[in-house]
Amino acid sequence: MQWQVSYDGKLLLCPKEQFRRVLDIGTGTGFWAMDFANEHPEADVIGLDISRGILPIYMPPNYEFQIDDVKEQWTWSQKFDFIHGRMLGGYFRDFPGGWLEVKDINLMPRCDDGTLPRDSNLFAWAHELAEAAGRMGPGFTNVEVVKHKWPMNQWAKDVKQNELGRLSQSFFADELETISGALLVHGLNLSHEEVAVRCTLVRREFNDPQIHAYFPVFTAFGMKPQR
Ligand SMILES: C[S@@+](CC[C@H](N)C(=O)[O-])C[C@H]1O[C@@H](n2cnc3c(N)ncnc32)[C@H](O)[C@@H]1O
Repeated sequence: MQWQVSYDGKLLLCPKEQFRRVLDIGTGTGFWAMDFANEHPEADVIGLDISRGILPIYMPPNYEFQIDDVKEQWTWSQKFDFIHGRMLGGYFRDFPGGWLEVKDINLMPRCDDGTLPRDSNLFAWAHELAEAAGRMGPGFTNVEVVKHKWPMNQWAKDVKQNELGRLSQSFFADELETISGALLVHGLNLSHEEVAVRCTLVRREFNDPQIHAYFPVFTAFGMKPQR
C-alpha cells in the first residue's frame, strides 16, 4: 500500500527503537498494527477502533483488538510508550503524552504544471471536503509539512511515483464514496444523491492522466510531554 511504498518498506519514520506498549488508534482493519506486532514480538500492541470491522483469522499473539471511542476519557491503567495514528484526519482532537507518529493525506490536490484547472470538479470537491472537515472539528488540514507526494493516477514518469499513482487510483476507486459521504453528508448536510453526483464528476478527473495532480502526504512524529 502507498504508505509502505513512500516509506521504502518501513512501518514508521519515527527514530524510536524500543517498544513495550503500543497503541494504534482508529486501527480500522488493524493491518498496520498487526504488521507492527509481527515486526516487534517484544511489544504488546493494541489496535483500537470505535467499530469492529472484519476480524482477521490470524492475529499475532502480541496483538489485541479493542473497541473504544478514543474521544472518550482515557481509562488505560498502564501508559503507552508509543501511539500511532494513520489517516485519522478530522476524527481526533487531542492525544495523550508519549511518543506519537501520525500520518495523513491532505485531500486538497496540488499540481505544478497547470494541468489541473482551478474550475475543475476535483478542486470544487476538495474545497467542500475541507469546509465539511472544518465544521466537524479541527483536523490536520493546516499542516504544512509535505514529506511525500501521491500522484492522483499513473501520470508520473518516475517508477516509484507511477506505482504510488497506481495505488492512489485504486484506493480512491474503492474509497471515494465513503470519504466523500462521511464528510459531505455530516459536515455540509448534502444528500446521498448529491454526493453521488459529485463523485461521478470527480471520478472522471481522478482517472484522467492528462491532469498531473497529486496529494501531499505528511508524517509527523515526536515526543509529547505527559500530562
Ligand atoms: C480512515 S480509517 C483509517 C484506518 C487505519 N488507521 C488505516 O490507516 O488503515 C479511520 C478509522 O478511525 C476509526 N474511528 C473514527 N472515530 C473513532 C473514534 N472516536 N474512536 C476510535 N476509532 C475511531 C474509524 O472507525 C476508522 O476505522
